[in-house]
Amino acid sequence: MVLLTRVSKRYSGRPHPALEDVSLHVPPGQFVYLTGPSGAGKTTLLRLLFAAEAPSSGLVRVGGADLGRISSRQVPLLRRKVGVIFQDFKLMPLRSVFENVALALHVAGRGPNGLNGRVSEMLAQVGLADKAQVRAGELSGGEQQRVAVARALVGRPPLLLADEPTGNLDPGTATEVMRLLLQAHAQGSTILVATHDPKLLDLVEGARVVHLQAGRLLEHP
Ligand SMILES: Nc1ncnc2c1ncn2[C@@H]1O[C@H](COP(=O)(O)OP(=O)(O)OP(=O)(O)O)[C@@H](O)[C@H]1O
Ligand SMILES: [Mg+2]
Repeated sequence: MVLLTRVSKRYSGRPHPALEDVSLHVPPGQFVYLTGPSGAGKTTLLRLLFAAEAPSSGLVRVGGADLGRISSRQVPLLRRKVGVIFQDFKLMPLRSVFENVALALHVAGRGPNGLNGRVSEMLAQVGLADKAQVRAGELSGGEQQRVAVARALVGRPPLLLADEPTGNLDPGTATEVMRLLLQAHAQGSTILVATHDPKLLDLVEGARVVHLQAGRLLEHP
């Protein structure tokens, strides 16, 4: 599902690469934790996988597509298959919770049939059914994070990238969000979760843990 081959990423003006010679194969259906301290390159690695960044060198393949070779017209097609929970949410603050989630389904190519029902179902799952008509910008950080989770999962993407998906949540809500990710995993999604919270690692039995340290990848046994 994901294949990185000797990938490096250097940002201009930075003395050290954000990623250095990273190779990683994630087969379909795997649940992977991406750990490592702040600045280790976790977000950078995830950004490569939905073509938000291009590597400085090396190959990035997602779902069989070589991201270095796809045209900009094909990027939206790639993104339909990838659900992303951003570290900073990236919600539309003036739009309602419902609209934020519905728009993601619409962009993913879903027609109007059943759209409202699916959005409502997803909002209920993240415990925000009663906030559906509230503007996203008026929610607490934890509520916004749950909208971001709903938006990423609503289209049942084959690949889910979650960047610190529980960073703003109390332990109970964090467990609930992890349960949703597990449910998506049980339904066949491949999942990459970036986190530096060691408590999360115990929540998913049998998950694979890969560790980034100053841009280099180390695999845990
Ligand atoms: N757009 C950018 N321009 C320049 N440097 C960047 C950019 N994005 C990230 N970096 C640098 O790349 C390195 C890796 O950053 P990254 O955001 O991937 O780390 P991270 O592991 O996600 O950290 P955190 O746990 O704090 O989210 C850092 O040194 C960061 O300053
Ligand atoms: Mg990050």
